[in-house]
Amino acid sequence: MGKTIDEISYALEEGILCFNVESFQELELLNQVAGEAGKVAPVALRVNPDVDPRTHPHIATGLRENKFGVAWEDALRAYEVASSLPNVRVVGVDAHIGSQITSVEPFVESAKKLSELVGRLMDNGVTLEHIDIGGGLGIRYRDEDPPEPGEWVSALLPVLEPLGLKIIFEPGRSLVGNAGILLTKVLYVKETPYRNFVIVDASMTELIRPTLYGAYHEVLPVERRGGEILRADIVGPVCESGDFLAKARTLEKPKPGDLLAVMSAGAYGFTMSSNYNARPRPAEVLVRGDRFQVVRERETYGDLIRGERFLGI
Ligand SMILES: Cc1ncc(COP(=O)(O)O)c(C=O)c1O
Repeated sequence: MGKTIDEISYALEEGILCFNVESFQELELLNQVAGEAGKVAPVALRVNPDVDPRTHPHIATGLRENKFGVAWEDALRAYEVASSLPNVRVVGVDAHIGSQITSVEPFVESAKKLSELVGRLMDNGVTLEHIDIGGGLGIRYRDEDPPEPGEWVSALLPVLEPLGLKIIFEPGRSLVGNAGILLTKVLYVKETPYRNFVIVDASMTELIRPTLYGAYHEVLPVERRGGEILRADIVGPVCESGDFLAKARTLEKPKPGDLLAVMSAGAYGFTMSSNYNARPRPAEVLVRGDRFQVVRERETYGDLIRGERFLGI
């Protein structure tokens, strides 16, 4: 949402499949920008089906109080407006109700509402080419039991297939979440009368999910050493008490220099990383069997100030 004129122009030049439009103003702007470029923009309306995805509130996107999509009550009117605009061409309908959803029911509920809308549009003479059900399929971080991708699709097809439209899914987390780990080195083990801390060289700047959503990530030693067990928070070097990767974990007491693997960090990990506290981002390494490749170099301090200018005032 919140597409700028520059972004719209770029997408028009590139000839993207379609614009998922989220408001009446966006529709008008798209029509204007497309007209100026001498193009006709393919459009799907992202509707807000008001479905509870039963996930963390920050990643619920299909409830009516969420900022996303055209309100359910306004959807037919939005299609009427879109159909009347000369520089847009209505091609689809779209919804994305949230992320880390661990049961099929909310998806089915959303798909049913969308297919009901498609039916009403057909009655009004509006024909579509595709229906896009969004992403959102959850993964197992701890003890969640999300549907397998096949189950997800099988639950949705009976609702979607009869429409005879091309069906689009937008999975993100479920493809990559459990394909990535964050590898971190233990710097210190600090035991206090109140709480113990394993201080590591990764932080909220590499993986913000624990502090942002209270998310749980498994933390495992790369090499098991056995011995004493410690209950501790696993924290980073950043200047905030919100800088933690895990709270109150029971683990084999590590030594400085030991490596820990923070599991399930492949989605919303690196992409949400920052340079806060002047922390260069780590390298990204792709591993396949016994082969590996650095696919993104570790940042340097030079990278942090590249692009900064001081002209003297
Ligand atoms: C519109 C849209 N589609 C798909 C996704 C991917 O969601 P997930 O990673 O939960 O599958 C997102 C995530 O923010 C999104 O905003």
